[in-house]
Amino acid sequence: MGLALKKPAGVPGKSWPAIVIGLFVAFGGVLFGYDTGTISGIIAMNFWLKQFSTGNTNADGAPIITASQQSEIVSILSAGTFFGALGAALIADRIGRRWSLIVSSGVFTIGVILQTAATAIPMFVAGRFFAGFGVGLISALIPLYQSETAPKWIRGVIVGSYQFAITIGLLLANVVNNATHNRNDSGSYRIPIGVQFAWAIILVTGMLILPETPRYLIKRGKPEAAARSLARLRRLPVDHEAIVDELGEITANHEFELTLGKATYLDCFRGGVFKRLMTGCLLQGLQQLTGINFIFYYGTQYFKNSGITNSFVISMITAAVNVGSTLPGLYAIDKFGRRPLLFWGAIGMCVSQLLVAILGTTTTGQYPTTGVTYSKNDSAQKASIAFVCIYIFFFASTWGPIAWVVTGEIFPLKVRAKCLSMSTATNWLLNWAIAYSTPYLVNFGPGNANLQSKIFFIWFGCCFICIAFVYFMIYETKGLTLEQIDELYDEVKVASKSVHWKPTTTFREIRAGGASVAGQGGVGGTGYDEKTHEGVEHRG
Ligand code: BGC
Repeated sequence: MGLALKKPAGVPGKSWPAIVIGLFVAFGGVLFGYDTGTISGIIAMNFWLKQFSTGNTNADGAPIITASQQSEIVSILSAGTFFGALGAALIADRIGRRWSLIVSSGVFTIGVILQTAATAIPMFVAGRFFAGFGVGLISALIPLYQSETAPKWIRGVIVGSYQFAITIGLLLANVVNNATHNRNDSGSYRIPIGVQFAWAIILVTGMLILPETPRYLIKRGKPEAAARSLARLRRLPVDHEAIVDELGEITANHEFELTLGKATYLDCFRGGVFKRLMTGCLLQGLQQLTGINFIFYYGTQYFKNSGITNSFVISMITAAVNVGSTLPGLYAIDKFGRRPLLFWGAIGMCVSQLLVAILGTTTTGQYPTTGVTYSKNDSAQKASIAFVCIYIFFFASTWGPIAWVVTGEIFPLKVRAKCLSMSTATNWLLNWAIAYSTPYLVNFGPGNANLQSKIFFIWFGCCFICIAFVYFMIYETKGLTLEQIDELYDEVKVASKSVHWKPTTTFREIRAGGASVAGQGGVGGTGYDEKTHEGVEHRG
């Protein structure tokens, strides 16, 4: 990973334990990616269709499920994840980050049991809801746990590795689906679903061993336990100067937050915090609207409909491109910064989606009575798949990881869990909306819009909006500490000006320096309260 991963000189203690822990926790991403990725193949499996179809058949007499059943089965998971993500802040602040992750894995397991046992749609759907609830909790808890334990200099890569794990989960789901889809028994879908027990067991075992985050322990008034946890993370004795220092910083922040009163959800909608909340929610919402999950949820089915014979293999290829392209993205996040990556990523996705839309629309035909689609030009179909892969490359190296990295770092600590859970929930809300509506939009038949490949024009339009969003809303936060990011938002009102901003002070200096530092800060205040970031935000 080159220079971006070099520990800065003078940072005491070891970083590898926290890095290993951060990377292990990222494993929860495998659970997330696998669970969301497995359904695309399952609903295209012949045995599953035979078992779960309620009597509907296609023109050839083969069992199918209707568009409304498809959308119910696929989207119920995202509905569960939405509520799970919203609930994450509540349990994380009550029972701790570590126990929350354990409980979430338990909820997820209940969902997997129900799906494995199901032989008809209602129980399958219930299972997907519970599994989704667990995934939603986990999806907000992981970036929280990671950024509360990660050394600052490598935070971007550690949180980004969560996305890498998501892509590995998606790929594994496609590989397992591809291995079992030809079986003519319930193993065809029970094996891919059952594999998920392994992810839950691995995560729970790890969490039983790993420490609670020092920040949560300070919050709960357990400074000794916090010191032990931090000492374990940095591999230093509890009374080492660096541990005492870092803990002092966390405690100072926390005590200051307490002086501002209890953080409520209302605080997230006030003053400067609201702008950041909007940035986080729009970033996550637009990430979904770029159309990525159309490919991962309905891709197998869509490629099959477009006359591509080996749609399971194509799905494996798209998932593999997703994994491979995340790695350059991880490197580039800290090297080139969030803003240029999101900007160029949006342009790349926009162009690719437009080309897929044009190729798909002009080179496939459809029989008017059956609605069955066919390819008019096989080379154009191949070119269109190539552009789907190029689109995935741009997504995976930019918007995929950076949505999680940015939402993990832009919120003030006091309302962080709450804002993070709301922005994650926005991701799932749009995820749900897309999963729910696309079958109606794409499919042929009464009540459906029969857009087929024209759906890609919608993703193109959304990617176009992404370009403007980045220009006007995304601040460059590369290489800044969380406290400096606070300062950045205080001082710079226009996102495009954030690129050349240099920090003038740090939170600790502000605490130590009081009014004199505040005067130098130049934000128009003269006293400590004026300069303090939280204070500024609460002034509205
Ligand atoms: C998105 C998921 C998507 C995945 C693809 C994540 O960042 O939030 O919805 O399936 O990337 O890699």
